[in-house]
Amino acid sequence: MKTVKDAMKFYSHVLMFRLQSGSPRQYRKQWESYWRTIHATGADGEVLWDNEPAKAAAEDLRRFAPHMDARLPVVDLGCGNGRQSRFLARHFERVIGVDVSPAAVELARRESQGSPEEGRLEFRVWDGAKPGEAEALHAEIGDANIYMRTVFHCVQSPDRPRFVTSLATLLGAQGTLYQIELSKSALDTFRQLPGDSPSGLPTLVHNVVRNGIHPIGFTPRDRRRYYPDERWIVLAQGDAVVINTVRLAHGSEVQVPANYLVLRPRRALLAGTAGGDQALHRAG
Ligand SMILES: C[S@@+](CC[C@H](N)C(=O)[O-])C[C@H]1O[C@@H](n2cnc3c(N)ncnc32)[C@H](O)[C@@H]1O
Repeated sequence: MKTVKDAMKFYSHVLMFRLQSGSPRQYRKQWESYWRTIHATGADGEVLWDNEPAKAAAEDLRRFAPHMDARLPVVDLGCGNGRQSRFLARHFERVIGVDVSPAAVELARRESQGSPEEGRLEFRVWDGAKPGEAEALHAEIGDANIYMRTVFHCVQSPDRPRFVTSLATLLGAQGTLYQIELSKSALDTFRQLPGDSPSGLPTLVHNVVRNGIHPIGFTPRDRRRYYPDERWIVLAQGDAVVINTVRLAHGSEVQVPANYLVLRPRRALLAGTAGGDQALHRAG
């Protein structure tokens, strides 16, 4: 049970992080600063969400595969160190992991070297908050499916419409988007855990927020606001799923409340793709 003193410790640290790191909208600066601190990944590593694909992308694949045209390239958007990208490359012919942080992209390339999936995979520095970068990537690779795991919940409200524009550009007329994001209550889940850091958070969570990264979650209201029914069709969704962390200091992995969506821009449906026809049918 956390006390008032714990709450004061937490909020004073959040304020200090904000003062030190500046606006949470400086995605490149903050994520680069985070990824530069990472020396060990995987089950016993330093990256909070870096669980094995069996507890991440493999669960996701079962949700999105029925809705995606598997012949299209897959963009793993916000790929981090690329563990889930490598899993996706076992199932899709071309996977492009993109991330705003050059240090993450370098790590993803290093960790993928010599892997059986290497020939189907590439990694690039790319910023979802700059729609011009989506236009350039789409011009090069054409319509793509998007896999996005725990990225949008850190994109701040003023940038979300721009970010969604980037997603729609990459998808084009044929692509399908899968996103799985932390729910609003996720930070509370972390705050209830035994803390072993100056802010009272588990160290692996503290290491994220101390770089100025500011998770704000993704809610059903956000879905209606950023993916409105006039422009997007929901092919599948789940509001009570989890994202598995790696083992934290108290000795266990944590299942963080999350939600997922499988989406396609409505204009893609009007373009009359086979998947689009099925989706319209399903949507009634
Ligand atoms: C919580 S991590 C998730 C990493 C990966 N998806 C996974 O599940 O292992 C969020 C990732 O999104 C990246 N990211 C944040 N903002 C971004 C942006 N504007 N454009 C592209 N990537 C971004 C970060 O650098 C980070 O690697």
